[in-house]
Amino acid sequence: MGKANLHVFFLLFLILSSFCESNDQLTQANSLSPGDMLISEGRVFALGFFSPTNSNQSLYLGIWYHSIPERTVVWVANRDSPISNHSSVKLTISNSSEMVLFDSEGRAVWMTASTTIAGGAEGALAVLLDSGNFVLRLLNGTVVWQSIDHLTDTILPNTRVLLSYKAQVVGRLVAWKGPDDPSSGDFSFSIDPSSNLQIFIWNGSLPYKRLDVVNEVSVSGGTYQSNTTSVMSQYLYYRGDELYYTYTVSDGSPYTRILLDNRGNLSLLSWNNTSLSWTLASNTPSYCFLYASCGPFGYCDVAAVPTTCRCPDGFELVDSLDLSRGCQRKEALRCGKKSNFMTMPNMKVPDKFLHIRNTSFDQCADECSRNCSCMAYAYANLSSAGGTMGDTSRCLVWTGDLIDMEKASFFHENLYIRLAESPVQKKNSFLKMLLPIIACVLLVTFGTLVWTCKSRGNRQKKKVQKRTMLDYLSSMDEAGGKNIEFPLISFEKIVAATDNFSNCNMLGQGGFGKVYKGMLEGTKEVAVKRLSKGSGQGTEEFRNEVVLIAKLQHKNLVKLIGCCIHEDEKLLVYEYLPNKSLDYFLFDAARKSVLQWPTRFKVIQGVARGIMYLHQDSRLTIIHRDLKASNILLDKEMSPKISDFGMARIFCGDQLQANTNRVVGTYGYMSPEYAMEGAFSVKSDTYSFGVLMLEIVSGLKISSPYLIKDFPNLIVYAWNYWKDGKIEDMVDSSMVEDCSLDEVSRCIHIALLCVQDSPNYRPLMSAVVFMLENKTTPLPTPKQPIYFVRDYEPRKASDNMESSINDASLTTLQGR
Ligand SMILES: *[C@@H]1O[C@H](CO)[C@@H](O)[C@H](O)[C@H]1NC(C)=O
Ligand SMILES: *[C@@H]1O[C@H](CO)[C@@H](O)[C@H](O)[C@H]1NC(C)=O
Ligand SMILES: *[C@@H]1O[C@H](CO)[C@@H](O)[C@H](O)[C@H]1NC(C)=O
Ligand SMILES: *[C@@H]1O[C@H](CO)[C@@H](O)[C@H](O)[C@H]1NC(C)=O
Ligand SMILES: *[C@@H]1O[C@H](CO)[C@@H](O)[C@H](O)[C@H]1NC(C)=O
Ligand SMILES: *[C@@H]1O[C@H](CO)[C@@H](O)[C@H](O)[C@H]1NC(C)=O
Ligand SMILES: *[C@@H]1O[C@H](CO)[C@@H](O)[C@H](O)[C@H]1NC(C)=O
Ligand SMILES: *[C@@H]1O[C@H](CO)[C@@H](O)[C@H](O)[C@H]1NC(C)=O
Ligand SMILES: *[C@@H]1O[C@H](CO)[C@@H](O)[C@H](O)[C@H]1NC(C)=O
Ligand SMILES: *[C@@H]1O[C@H](CO)[C@@H](O)[C@H](O)[C@H]1NC(C)=O
Ligand SMILES: *[C@@H]1O[C@H](CO)[C@@H](O)[C@H](O)[C@H]1NC(C)=O
Ligand SMILES: *[C@@H]1O[C@H](CO)[C@@H](O)[C@H](O)[C@H]1NC(C)=O
Repeated sequence: MGKANLHVFFLLFLILSSFCESNDQLTQANSLSPGDMLISEGRVFALGFFSPTNSNQSLYLGIWYHSIPERTVVWVANRDSPISNHSSVKLTISNSSEMVLFDSEGRAVWMTASTTIAGGAEGALAVLLDSGNFVLRLLNGTVVWQSIDHLTDTILPNTRVLLSYKAQVVGRLVAWKGPDDPSSGDFSFSIDPSSNLQIFIWNGSLPYKRLDVVNEVSVSGGTYQSNTTSVMSQYLYYRGDELYYTYTVSDGSPYTRILLDNRGNLSLLSWNNTSLSWTLASNTPSYCFLYASCGPFGYCDVAAVPTTCRCPDGFELVDSLDLSRGCQRKEALRCGKKSNFMTMPNMKVPDKFLHIRNTSFDQCADECSRNCSCMAYAYANLSSAGGTMGDTSRCLVWTGDLIDMEKASFFHENLYIRLAESPVQKKNSFLKMLLPIIACVLLVTFGTLVWTCKSRGNRQKKKVQKRTMLDYLSSMDEAGGKNIEFPLISFEKIVAATDNFSNCNMLGQGGFGKVYKGMLEGTKEVAVKRLSKGSGQGTEEFRNEVVLIAKLQHKNLVKLIGCCIHEDEKLLVYEYLPNKSLDYFLFDAARKSVLQWPTRFKVIQGVARGIMYLHQDSRLTIIHRDLKASNILLDKEMSPKISDFGMARIFCGDQLQANTNRVVGTYGYMSPEYAMEGAFSVKSDTYSFGVLMLEIVSGLKISSPYLIKDFPNLIVYAWNYWKDGKIEDMVDSSMVEDCSLDEVSRCIHIALLCVQDSPNYRPLMSAVVFMLENKTTPLPTPKQPIYFVRDYEPRKASDNMESSINDASLTTLQGR
């Protein structure tokens, strides 16, 4: 009797002491109640009951980090069945080797999926491991259940996640509903069941974000390396019919986890031992990271600054104001004609592909090229992963629209897109931009040669040269004439059109030369820009302007019709705009009343859209560098068209700002960092645009500070009036009707944001367009302008200023 008691006591003691010392196990003999915890052997993780907040006392069974102060839950058992009454709640292992969570009324609110085990009666045991995995084992060691096969919102390192089995989705991350609500939220993460080759983040049942398609690179593991996570490698691999995902971190790394949060962000986080907080180790998404945000045939260019949607070569935007509408072909595909495939490297290939099995690269290409409805193909080699079901190839073909593409240096795949041209024509289309220039250059060369020949009196040689040149030009015209977007116009035609550049036909004079009105072939009104002879700088600007304008198509940009080089003459022929330029009206006491507020607002919006197009919607990032009222032309509806791209520069995709040692532009419109340091960026155009807006609203010239009493310049003047709410006093008094003070005030506000001294504070033009169009969106407060003494101050430059007040040529500045 006493012995028996002692025996029971001893057993009890053993159980208790085992719970206290190495309590990482749950056995059939004990159970876990609120307040109890299992702690993994290395004291990394803890398992127990928790309530998300003090206000919500609902009870959940979960796993969290034991050794960090901020409770970070990585797994929840009963996420969708919270327990409200805490008494008599317990987690046990049944005698059929299942783990069961009972509520206060003895109902099972959660249990491990019953994998009926023959002979399960021999018992089981659950262990919390240092990896964060909670494993239920039979006593002979067979694992019957583990928490990493039943993910909630977190993937822990060095654990193997079963994503799919026999092409059926198995593993799925489901985000919490809210920061304090573990129940299943809208966002989830899983392999695409229809292809088994790509991973999606879903918003409900809709794709939200698609990760790149499995290829050789992502199979063997992309490697992240950062200071917070020493080294991380990830792997996606098949074991027979099972597809697994694993990522590893090196020994001694801080705690690391992959989390799908309640806002749909998938992020890699690591614990900072110093700041005692989780820090983001993976990239933050760009703005077009969402599924299909660039529309059909559009791709998200991650390297661009700012990140933007672009069209592949041979495609153009459907709507330059709404990039999500995607791109369309410039030239329609015609079945039967031999088509050509264009290679796009570094792509995340599109969604909705057809996976053709067991092919070589050549078979894959052939598969696509012989079927007219095939738009693109891509090929990768899965051999390093052992392939999928005995197939080491991965040939993908697309028959519909190409959706959800991305381009970035961390993608390593080529996408081959079908284009209309045959390979021969394709070369010409590449030459399309260069042809006019080559032609112009050749003409110049030719002119020089002729001159040389003449002076040497070598007529024979001249004849030969001439024939060769003519042959060349005519052959070029036959082959690619249709592709030249604008023709070369002969000097004779231009002389005839402008009445030999007669002064009566002169429209104006700009930094690089004079502009004439002409009547081309007696019917077509054009504006001819005759660049100053021998200016030295002219050739480069000329080349820039020709190449750039040829590529640009937007209703707020002036259209180039043709070009000509004749001896040392360089000429550009533009569409003619009857209403001259904005300054012609804006700064003329008699004409300014033509510009009532609705027209001025239309001009502001149009110019903003035009600049936005230059900055981010055309396939290049173009900085105009000389925006000013005289470069805004007006058509017969008084719609604005931006002209004079001679000084624009192509900005390389990854370049945020650049420096130049030749500052061109117009004082007053030039941002401080550009005028002083030669540093220009898209934000320098934002600045010029802000100045232009202030001019449009006030009817005052930035370069006429003497018109403004008591203030050093227009910006300081505007800032003070705006700050004091005296908008009426600064509005151009010739706007009498229809002047909405709210709208005017908003424009001044936006202008002041644009002219802030620090480029970082100035908005991008896309934001400006948005602010102009959404009149109720709140605006940030502009910083007070710092006033610098600059050259345009009347005290210093008054003579110069007075004499050239109507002369745009004062605007060019050289030789810094
Ligand atoms: C706590 O939150 C859960 C999940 O949102 C909810 O079902 C439950 O009613 C809440 N309980 C209390 C007491 O607010
Ligand atoms: C589990 O064990 C209990 C008590 O030992 C017993 O009453 C019950 O029948 C067993 N259940 C099963 C399914 O074997
Ligand atoms: C909670 O459960 C216990 C036992 O099951 C019961 O006595 C008690 O009344 C319950 N409390 C509430 C608030 O329902
Ligand atoms: C352990 O026991 C189960 C059930 O009796 C059996 O299916 C399994 O094969 C055993 N595992 C080993 C490793 O013996
Ligand atoms: C998720 O989808 C719902 C319903 O379609 C939508 O209202 C919500 O805005 C989406 N969430 C995000 C972050 O896109
Ligand atoms: C962080 O990374 C940079 C670049 O890899 C390295 O130069 C630097 O030493 C690292 N800092 C620490 C604290 O490891
Ligand atoms: C965090 O810092 C403490 C002491 O500074 C150290 O003992 C512990 O190992 C560190 N943990 C990690 C995960 O680096
Ligand atoms: C950790 O936090 C401290 C303090 O905020 C910070 O100085 C340190 O750079 C952080 N370390 C890492 C690796 O991010
Ligand atoms: C998370 O998502 C929200 C909303 O989609 C976004 O505003 C936020 O910037 C994202 N955070 C990170 C770190 O990516
Ligand atoms: C691909 O080829 C392998 C080996 O030749 C074969 O075992 C497999 O069944 C083929 N798969 C398909 C889908 O044809
Ligand atoms: C071309 O592809 C389409 C779509 O996959 C298919 O329906 C059609 O049969 C194919 N045509 C040929 C000739 O292979
Ligand atoms: C695929 O990879 C294997 C092994 O690396 C190589 O032998 C084979 O040539 C590759 N095939 C293609 C099409 O790249």
